[in-house]
Amino acid sequence: MSNKPDFVSIGDVSKHFGSVRAVDGVSLDIAQGEFFALLGPSGCGKTTLLRILGGFEAPNSGNVHIDGADMTLQPPNRRPVNMVFQNYAIFPHLNVRENIGYGLRKEGLSKQQIAERVDEALATVKLEGLGGRGATEVSGGQRQRVALARALVKHPKVLLLDEPLSALDKNLREQMRVELRALQQQVGITFIFVTHDQEEALSMADRIAVMFDGKVRQVDTPEHLYETPRSKDVAAFIGSMNFIDATVEGADGDALIVDAGPVGRIRAGLPADGAPAAGTTVIVGIRPEKLILADSPPGEGANSIRARLTAASYLGERSHYFLQVDGLAEPLSIARQNTQAQLLHEADAGSELWLTWSPASGIVLPAAG
Ligand SMILES: Nc1ncnc2c1ncn2[C@@H]1O[C@H](COP(=O)(O)OP(=O)(O)O)[C@@H](O)[C@H]1O
Ligand SMILES: [Mg+2]
Repeated sequence: MSNKPDFVSIGDVSKHFGSVRAVDGVSLDIAQGEFFALLGPSGCGKTTLLRILGGFEAPNSGNVHIDGADMTLQPPNRRPVNMVFQNYAIFPHLNVRENIGYGLRKEGLSKQQIAERVDEALATVKLEGLGGRGATEVSGGQRQRVALARALVKHPKVLLLDEPLSALDKNLREQMRVELRALQQQVGITFIFVTHDQEEALSMADRIAVMFDGKVRQVDTPEHLYETPRSKDVAAFIGSMNFIDATVEGADGDALIVDAGPVGRIRAGLPADGAPAAGTTVIVGIRPEKLILADSPPGEGANSIRARLTAASYLGERSHYFLQVDGLAEPLSIARQNTQAQLLHEADAGSELWLTWSPASGIVLPAAG
């Protein structure tokens, strides 16, 4: 990451609408050149926080600094920021070039300067040759690029993007993830990207802030967020996870020994901040793809439990299985790539199998939230 780790600095920002705490005490530092995602379910305050950064909404308390300057009370046009809105409204009566150059005309640049900047922006979003097209004569994906070019043409220090891919169909959305990431690397502008789509955030962002109910619950790289979530809420939101209630017995090397009731005594990963005291109630979280099906019990060191297949669903490149362990309230969910392993089917329901997993696959989470 670059030399300014607090290029965008959000200090204890809150915004209330009546009794709704849309943004509730958020503090974040975003680095220069970073691709940063705000991820959370609908209504968690992502758009409100982005609008506060853009100057379209004033916070009730807290402050916003960009590149060292206090922006808290500055209007949008005084901020080195541009925003791509969720419904990127482009002007239907203007052609592509005119749409992109629109904001520059108001800046009093010469025709020549505007033409050069528009050409540069068209090239950046790979729309060369389409400048003369009417805004309604381009596809959804191209319209999305026009909106991006219109924001980039003003050379902002920070680009704010509010669910910019949500209007596109699935294939185009996945293709645009790759392109948008490449474009951000190329222009080197700090991107703050809002989405409710976990995969979108994981595939594009350098770091992700997960928000619930106006609060930031965890900020991490995609890999850390998925591999070491710090709460049950975050773990369940980023992908899916099996949760098993357990009581800490003690540490053994780099494993934590817990009593997991019906699952028995198992070994889990030792939390980074050390072993919780013996007797502490915890939750052990295990991702579905880290549970392995076996015909016989595993060797020393791994965890294992006998379980009964209750359901199987075939999803093409992978299958999902559900296995019930006697005494557990819910079956465990297992995901397996359909490579060489023999498939299990609905007709196999009732068969008894071994489930095994490595200690490090068990993530120790606090019992509450
Ligand atoms: N202008 C507004 N007036 C009243 N309530 C609002 C306004 N804008 C947002 N809210 C409320 O604030 C909360 C957060 O909204 P929003 O920031 O749009 O969430 P997100 O973008 O994560 O879906 C929601 O409960 C929403 O209804
Ligand atoms: Mg929103």
